[in-house]
Amino acid sequence: MQRVFPGRVLFWLVLSLTASVSCVKLGEDVDEESCLPEILTSNITYTGQIQTIFSQNCGNCHGSSPANGASTSYHTLALIQANLQGSRSVYTRINLSPGATGLMPTTGKMDACTLARISRWESLGYPN
Ligand code: HEC
Repeated sequence: MQRVFPGRVLFWLVLSLTASVSCVKLGEDVDEESCLPEILTSNITYTGQIQTIFSQNCGNCHGSSPANGASTSYHTLALIQANLQGSRSVYTRINLSPGATGLMPTTGKMDACTLARISRWESLGYPN
């Protein structure tokens, strides 16, 4: 009969506890990262995904008539593309750390999959 070493039991116990605790804590990140391989090879277009991302997350304030204290509109392909190729303030603001001053949207950082879709769209050359 194989002898079970207490040290080994403890090792596995600690390992599985750590794993389950970090899964609970990082569960969202793990789910989000699983989208990345697919996004890196997918065809992302403005009308397919980007328009919805910006209208849902920015539209209340950066729509055709800026509102709620915002002064710029990011509601068309041309406006978003011009910003991303110019000052890149959109890119900078959406990629700030959660809770950082100036983070957009003001309600909280968008998830990693959404940010990856925007980056992928940029690397494809902003297709419509
Ligand atoms: C609830 C309202 C609100 C939402 C939603 C919102 N913003 Fe803003 N945004 C503001 C306000 C107010 C300012 C001006 C104050 C500041 O600069 O932080 C601003 C400023 C900015 C700026 C810097 C100034 C400029 O226009 O270049 C950028 C870039 C920006 N927002 C991008 C975005 C993007 C992209 C989204 C969506 C992902 C978004 N915002 C969502 C209210 C909002």
